[in-house]
Amino acid sequence: MLQVGPYIIHSPLLLAPMAGVADLPFRRLCRRFGAGMAVTEMLTADTSKWSSQKSRLRLPVIAEAEPRAVQIAGAEPDQLADAAQRSVELGAQIVDINMGCPVKKVCKRAAGSALLRDEVLVAEILQKVVQAVSVPVTLKIRTGWDLQSRNAMSIAQLAEDVGIAALTIHGRTRACLFNGMAEYDTIAEVVAGVNIPVVANGDINSPQQAEAVLAHTGAAGLMIGRGAQGQPWLFRQIIAHLNGETPSEPTCSEVAVVMFEHVNAMHEYYGETMGVRIARKHMSWYLQKLQIDQACRKAFNQLVNSEQQLEFISELRIKKDNKGIAA
Ligand SMILES: Cc1cc2nc3c(=O)[nH]c(=O)nc-3n(C[C@H](O)[C@H](O)[C@H](O)COP(=O)(O)O)c2cc1C
Repeated sequence: MLQVGPYIIHSPLLLAPMAGVADLPFRRLCRRFGAGMAVTEMLTADTSKWSSQKSRLRLPVIAEAEPRAVQIAGAEPDQLADAAQRSVELGAQIVDINMGCPVKKVCKRAAGSALLRDEVLVAEILQKVVQAVSVPVTLKIRTGWDLQSRNAMSIAQLAEDVGIAALTIHGRTRACLFNGMAEYDTIAEVVAGVNIPVVANGDINSPQQAEAVLAHTGAAGLMIGRGAQGQPWLFRQIIAHLNGETPSEPTCSEVAVVMFEHVNAMHEYYGETMGVRIARKHMSWYLQKLQIDQACRKAFNQLVNSEQQLEFISELRIKKDNKGIAA
């Protein structure tokens, strides 16, 4: 059972924070399919930027299913503490600190995974943020900066000492970026070495892989990112498998309804122009996962308004074997 502070998370599966992907419509969808928690896309700790359109769309939303977890990214302890407080005022029930992001823009400012190189700074950040808020604070890291400095264990112990409520580990170093496969040995070592819940993350794309990672690491939960793109029902399938049931594929009509509702939700959340643009990305993942040919994906990308996109989905005929369509 996964517990984060006072929150008992009803499912051990969490949706990963993914900038540009795990927005409110996608989080809602994944929660519907059984994700126990869905962390927001990372929000800069510089609250002076929160009035920008990009940040506004990432702020906590009271109407979201509980517990509402907001992720913040930065490198200045006081700034992160302030951002955590502001997040809580806006409705965050859990504050997650990002020390896993390898993106250059983030790392250049020594935020994200770059912080893993400076354990003194990590300690100061964690202490200040934990002290600043009364809600649980969680941490997301990679296994280290590079293969020579895999310090997940010492960061984890530090996190436990200062009162971090749960720790997610992506089984790659910063230097690995997204290359190769995630490794779970380091995660298993950390699980054995600390008493806080540890969530395993990286390359969990199937019910079998989820079961194997849980068994190998002994983690309290699993975080799933890219595996859920274009197939949010993966959460339901993993839960069924973990319960000893045979996971079923969604029916063609269910897939059609999910795509329609998801795209519609993006139009509503972002408005026409941005909604249509972001819907293309998600639809491309759905169509790829359904092994629908590229010509169809191209055709969808050429549609210029929300009405056309919804009409296209309504007319899509997904064949029973999920291969190809007749439009
Ligand atoms: C498009 C994209 C955006 C991401 N954005 C974030 C983010 O905002 N915060 C974060 O901690 N990790 C971020 N990540 C990393 C994921 O949370 C996750 O750790 C990583 O993708 C590995 O999990 P997966 O193999 O299940 O995708 C991002 C990953 C991707 C692919």
